[in-house]
Amino acid sequence: MSFILKKPISHSDIQDVPIGTSITSYGRISRISIMKKFWYLKIRTMYKDDITLIADKSIIKEKPSTYSAIKFEGIVSESPSGNREIKLTKVLYYSSFDSKDLLITPGMSSELLRGLESQRMLDRKYQYIFYIYPRLCDYLRALSKKIGMLEIRPPLTTFSDCEGGGEVFKIVSDIKDFYKRKAYLTVSSQVEEETATQRLSSHTYVFARSFRSDPSRTRFHVSEFDHYEPELVYVTLDQLMDVEEYIIKSLFSYVLEQKDIYDRLVYLKSPVADLKDWSDTKFARISYTDAIETLMMSGQEFQVKPYWGLDLGKEHERWLCEKHFKKPTFVYKYPSKIKSFYMRQCPKIVSVKFGILQVCEGVDLLMPGIGELCGGSTREYRYDVLLAQIKERGLDPKDYEEYLSLRKQGGIPTGGFGLGFDRLMMVITGTKSIRDVVPFPRYYGR
Ligand code: 4AD
Ligand code: MG
Repeated sequence: MSFILKKPISHSDIQDVPIGTSITSYGRISRISIMKKFWYLKIRTMYKDDITLIADKSIIKEKPSTYSAIKFEGIVSESPSGNREIKLTKVLYYSSFDSKDLLITPGMSSELLRGLESQRMLDRKYQYIFYIYPRLCDYLRALSKKIGMLEIRPPLTTFSDCEGGGEVFKIVSDIKDFYKRKAYLTVSSQVEEETATQRLSSHTYVFARSFRSDPSRTRFHVSEFDHYEPELVYVTLDQLMDVEEYIIKSLFSYVLEQKDIYDRLVYLKSPVADLKDWSDTKFARISYTDAIETLMMSGQEFQVKPYWGLDLGKEHERWLCEKHFKKPTFVYKYPSKIKSFYMRQCPKIVSVKFGILQVCEGVDLLMPGIGELCGGSTREYRYDVLLAQIKERGLDPKDYEEYLSLRKQGGIPTGGFGLGFDRLMMVITGTKSIRDVVPFPRYYGR
C-alpha cells in the first residue's frame, strides 16, 4: 500500500486539466473579491501559485473571511481572459476566521509579525521561509552522505558542558537523582559525536538541536538552534576549511539552481547575487594574529579596540568580512585562552609585534551580514595536553573522563565544526533576525 498525501491545488496544477474536470481540494482563503452573483476567492498555498475559486452566492451565503479554511468540490473552468480557475460546486468543510481575532494584516512589518507568533505563518513570507527550511535540510543530509559522512543521532541530554562555557540549561526531574549525576540540555553534540567518530572510524555528522542559556537578546541568538556538526577523521586544519567551504558553496549553488527555492528567495528579497558571487569565489583565509594586526591598522573606530588576545566581537568580525575581504572569511589559529579546551594546541610562535604566542587550531567562518556562522577546530588528540587544557580552565577532569579516555584507547586525530543552521537560513533568505527563520523561537527574556 502506498500513500501520496494531497497538497492544496494550485493554478499550475490545473493548467493542462480539461475544462469541466471535477476537482476536490482544500486551502486557505487569502483574498476575497465580490461580484454580483459570485465571490472570487484566492486560495493560497505555500507550495505553488495561487488559484481562483469562483463561488456562487447560493453556495456560500455569507461573505467568507480572509484566512478561512475551506475544503471544496469544483470543476475546472476558464476565465474570459483564458485563465484556468475552479467553479465551486460544493463546500465540504468551511471554518471562518473571526475578524476580531485577526491580528496580522497584509504588508505588516517583520517586527510586528514577530510578536504574533501563532498567526505569522499565515503570511506568505513565513510560508516561503518554512518551505525552504526543510528543502535545505534534505539537501544538506544528502550532501553529507555523498561526501562520505555517517549520520549520528545524538542524545539531547548530556552530562558535561561540551564547550566548557557554562551556557547550559540544567535538567531537573521530580524523581530524585534520576540520572545519578547532573544532566544538561546539550550545547553541542561534539563530545558524543567524537566518541562515535572514533569508535566507528568514520567521518560523521550530526544534525540536531543545541541549547544555550546565553543571555544574548541579539538578532543572531536563540536559546534553541539547529546545529549541523561534521566530525572528520585524520583531517588537517586546511582540509577542514576546504570541506567547510565546499559544503557552504554547495548549499548556495543548490538554492540558486532549484527554481522553486530561487523564486521564493526572489520574493523574500534574498541577496541572490551575493550568494552567486560567494559560490564562485574562494573564501578569504586569515590567521587570527594577522586579523588582529589588520584590525589594528584599519583606522576604523571600534567600540572595543582590538588587541592580541581579544575575543573578536561582532563589529570586528563584520568589518573583516564585510569591509575588508568583502566575502566569507575564515579566521584560524586563535589564542588558546579564548577558545575551548578541546582544540589542538599549536607549537608556540614568536611574533615581533606581539611576543610569544600560544594559539590553537580553532577556526571560525565569518559571513557578511551575520558574523560567525561556523565554529570548529582540529581536536587535541594528545592525552596530556588535553588534560592540561581542561585543568587550566578550571574544569573538572572527572566530567570529561570518557572524552579523555578516547585519547588512550586507539585515538584518532579528528576535526570538525558546528554550523548554526538558523544563521545559514538568515544568510540565504536575507532575513535580518534569527527569530524570523525559526517557527517558534525561544530566546532570553521572552
Ligand atoms: O562556535 P560554537 O559554539 O561551536 C561549537 O559548538 C562546537 N562544539 C562545534 C563543533 O566543533 N562541532 O557553535 C557553532 C555555531 C556558531 O558558529 C553559530 O553559528 C551557532 O552554532 N550558534 C548559535 N546559533 C544561534 N543561536 C545561538 N545562541 C548560537 N550559538 C551558537
Ligand atoms: Mg563559536
